[in-house]
This record gives sequence, C-alpha cells and structure tokens, in this order.
Amino acid sequence: MSATEGSLASLDGTIAPAAETLIPVTDEGLIRGDGIFEVIRLYDGRPFRLEAHLDRLERSGAGIRLPVDRATITSEVTELLAAAGSGPAHQAVRIMLTRGGRRIILTEAMHHIPPVTRLATVTYAPTRVLDNIKSLSYAANMLMGRLAREQGADEALAVTPHGRVLEAPTSSIFWVTDGAVHTPPLSEHILASITRAFVIEVIAATGIAGGQVTEAPVGLAELLGADETFLTSTLREVQPVSAIDTTTFPAPGPVTAEVAAAVRAEIDRWRSAADPAA
Ligand SMILES: Cc1ncc(COP(=O)(O)O)c(C=O)c1O
Repeated sequence: MSATEGSLASLDGTIAPAAETLIPVTDEGLIRGDGIFEVIRLYDGRPFRLEAHLDRLERSGAGIRLPVDRATITSEVTELLAAAGSGPAHQAVRIMLTRGGRRIILTEAMHHIPPVTRLATVTYAPTRVLDNIKSLSYAANMLMGRLAREQGADEALAVTPHGRVLEAPTSSIFWVTDGAVHTPPLSEHILASITRAFVIEVIAATGIAGGQVTEAPVGLAELLGADETFLTSTLREVQPVSAIDTTTFPAPGPVTAEVAAAVRAEIDRWRSAADPAA
C-alpha cells in the first residue's frame, strides 16, 4: 500500500477521500513550497504527542509569518480521526498549511521502515533562514535520500561541508561511545524533533546510560569511531544504524536495544492509559 492509498483528508474542514481532495494549482504552497507541515504518529487511531507537534506547528507558522489557527486545526484533526478510525491506512496524520491559506490534514499508512538502516553521507548546509521552521520546502531532504540510495544505502546522513554531522533527512541521529549517549545540539540548525526530545526524556527517566544524553557537535570521524548509532523519528521510533558509508556498527548495539525497548514501553504505557491526553 502506498502511504496515501485509502487515506482520508480534511481540506479546510471538509472530509473526503484524499484521492478526491483537490487544491488550486495556484497555491504558493505548491508553486514555491511555501507552507509548513507536521507528521504525527497514530497508535490505535490516537495521535501521539499531538500537543508538542501543534506547538512546533505554531512555531513554524510564526517563523514563516503564516497564521496558525490552533483551535480550528485541533478540532479538524479530531473530526478527521473520528471519521478515519484505526485501520492500516490511518497510522499517521499529516497537517499542511499553505501560503494559499489551505488547511490540509491527511491520514496516511506507514511506509515500510526497515528494522535497521544503512546510511550514506551527503554534504548539506542548512538554510539558516529556515531555522526552527518545518517548511514544505523539502526537496533537498528528499534528494538527499535519493543520492544515498544511488550509493546503495537506505538513507542519507547530512554532513556539513566542514564535516559536522547534522541529522538524516527525516530523522535525528544519536550515537553511543563507551556507554554514553550523544546527539548533535539544536544549535547545529537541525530540526527540534519531537522524538529526539522524547528519547532524551525516556533516557533520563529510565537511567539508561546514566540517564544522560550529551548534546555535542560531532565531526564525521568521531561518529565513525562510535560503538553504536541510531536514528529516531515520529515514524521510526528508534532505528539502529548498521553502516555509515563503509563503516559498520552492531545493529542494534546493546544501548540502542535498551533505548528502543524503553521508548516502546513508554509508548505502550501511553497506549494503555485511560486518559487520552496523558
Ligand atoms: C529534518 C528532520 N529531522 C528530524 C525529524 C524527526 O522529527 P520528529 O521526531 O518530530 O518526527 C524530521 C521529521 O520529519 C525531519 O524532517
């Protein structure tokens, strides 16, 4: 199934199959990628960390000077999810706000996520003006993935021209050296990922690796010398990395396996919680 097959859409509050939902070609969201978006994971039809995603949507809107009507979006997400239910076509919800003024909310199926991933480095310098903005201008991110796959890898790892490791096109990177967990700081102009924050929170709460994640810039050579490394994102949760270019890693390494299990346990705790907002 493609991610959007069977997908249900809400366009400015009108619910219909996504395949039949149309916007004008003149929308600057299409013409220039001028807009913002969020992707939120659904478990049993319920959105995980919805408030954190809406907070980021608001920050993105403020960043690109696009109004975000949070109350309307919240009620439209609720109505869409009630109409969609919890089938395989509805495992994530995507919110897009365009410069043309459209509110587009889609349910999506999960695309296949391999249990481990091989990365190829791609040179990339983040556009400073888009700092802290999850904009619809994602062609560079999508191209990075294609360039990596051309090299026989599964996914890209963005590295600056000066050799600093940033993130993958749609996920954050962590690494483990001598039992200590590290990730690049947000000051490296990477996305303030919801899952990155969640993983840091879970490590602190469980005491894994001393309960600490060190946020420190990392050069590629240092990362390649790490004992383990993994990606995190809303759709992946925790995904072990088995190779970066020609350097291989145990996947999962022992700390990665512990983190993945703790993250999954926390999601399961949330799933079984009676209070949907917990
Ligand atoms: C560039 C980038 N980094 C990291 C992530 C992971 O963010 P989140 O955990 O909020 O899904 C994403 C998600 O799409 C992303 O686009």
